[in-house]
Amino acid sequence: MPRHATPRRYLMCPPAHFKVTYSINPWMDPAKPVDVPLAIAQWEDLAGRYRALGHTVEELSPRPDLPDMVFAANGATVIDGRVLGARFAYRERAAEAEAHLDWFHSHGFAEIHEPAHINEGEGDFAVTASWILAGRGFRASPLSHGEAQEFFGRPVVGLDLVDPRYYHLDTALAVLDDAADSVMYYPDAFSAGSQAVLRRLFPDALIASEADAVALGLNAVSDGLHVLLPQAAVGLFEPLRSRGFEPIGMDLGELLKGGGSVKCCTQELR
Ligand code: ARG
Repeated sequence: MPRHATPRRYLMCPPAHFKVTYSINPWMDPAKPVDVPLAIAQWEDLAGRYRALGHTVEELSPRPDLPDMVFAANGATVIDGRVLGARFAYRERAAEAEAHLDWFHSHGFAEIHEPAHINEGEGDFAVTASWILAGRGFRASPLSHGEAQEFFGRPVVGLDLVDPRYYHLDTALAVLDDAADSVMYYPDAFSAGSQAVLRRLFPDALIASEADAVALGLNAVSDGLHVLLPQAAVGLFEPLRSRGFEPIGMDLGELLKGGGSVKCCTQELR
């Protein structure tokens, strides 16, 4: 199947103040040191790669008191220029929501909704051609799914996450082609019922192995052709190529210490 890339606009936040000082997911160990210059170099590699592919990267100013702010995907969800703000599950990240809202207000976004219910932006919302897939179980409130459906006017499909290593939907599922309902995912991250829903909606999905999921290989960003993903997820490269995609392996090893990789660092401004 011939694939083609479409130009994207991304919002990212440099990891100038990245730290692991608390633990809100099983990947985070405050006892393990973080190499900030290395995190910055890895992040710049990702931002530079997007730009080299013809995409636009907008930058949010990092704040010293918000060490997880590099995970910009969590700050909002934007579809058709409409912004659904975030409301974080843990107080450590709560102020990030405001920083994102300020950015949208000062960058010409007119339709901005401050949410009543907990949602961590694209951490738990994934946008395909037909649906918004919405994770729940660890972070987003199930009530945020109805709120998103009402605001965007798109059908929201709730999916139950059951393994704490895959605490956000974007650690267990990636959209490969948002014009055609094409995804890859790791079934065991989901409840039995949600696995059945995924099989029904995406019978041709690329199914990831445990080894690739644990390398956070599903924390990937696709422009319709190029799929940027953690380079350690070696088992995904060939299946992606055979489906017509061009996988691009990235090393975001330092940011993995916070429990995130490519997708977590990238919020798409649709
Ligand atoms: N330390 C962050 C947290 O646990 C990582 C967030 C990763 N972001 C993501 N979109 N999965 O909230």
